[in-house]
Amino acid sequence: MSREIILVRYKAGQRVNHWVGALALVLLMLSGLAFFHPSLFFLTNLFGGGQMARMLHPWIGVVMALSFIGMLIRFARENLWNRDDTAWMGRLGAVISGDEEKLPELGKYNAGQKLVFWGMALGILLLLATGLIAWDSYFFDLTTIDQKRLALLLHAMSAVGIILLLIVHVYAALWIKGSIRAMTDGTVTGGWAWRHHRKWLRAEAAKGIK
Ligand code: HEM
Repeated sequence: MSREIILVRYKAGQRVNHWVGALALVLLMLSGLAFFHPSLFFLTNLFGGGQMARMLHPWIGVVMALSFIGMLIRFARENLWNRDDTAWMGRLGAVISGDEEKLPELGKYNAGQKLVFWGMALGILLLLATGLIAWDSYFFDLTTIDQKRLALLLHAMSAVGIILLLIVHVYAALWIKGSIRAMTDGTVTGGWAWRHHRKWLRAEAAKGIK
């Protein structure tokens, strides 16, 4: 009797790292939007009021930055650009119509995932640097008011960028059926891997699938 092939895509430590970062980013988004415009100030109620939200936001930012550093260490190598990615980008029509047989065989990630990954890395670096400049409770004396203003403008701009990338990331995770379970129970089916990441499947098979 044939049995369905199941592959491990993420180990428990990787998944915990991912979800801590994801939760932190959602909380940052909610508290950050509350400071962005008075009409969104009601969101501070989720954090116990304006003062609590102002106090918590930078600390959640530290958690988020640390967990993204964890993800950088874990996933950067497999997100490096290669020739298949350039070929994949040249055939975006086939990507959008789901005509995957016209696309090159791919390793663990596709070019879209890689662009989101590096975009997030850049965005988080900018958010961290500009956020630290505006963190008056600790660094008030180190910068001038003009530097803080510029930092906060860049902070808001990078936040918009990160939110857009997050929307793309979550949309793609839902669009490619069978991906969410990769980050929940850590596994994908052989069919999923064959369809979307055939080179990765071949490499895993060469190592021996349990
Ligand atoms: C909040 C909702 C989120 C959902 C539903 C989600 C879902 C997923 C799923 C299903 C995967 C596995 C994709 C695959 O292996 O092909 C994944 C991978 C990943 N996610 Fe998320 N994610 C979310 C938020 C985030 C956030 C906020 C970050 C970063 C701050 C993030 C960073 C990553 C990274 C680095 C990977 C590894 C794959 C890669 O390098 O592209 N995710 N996510």
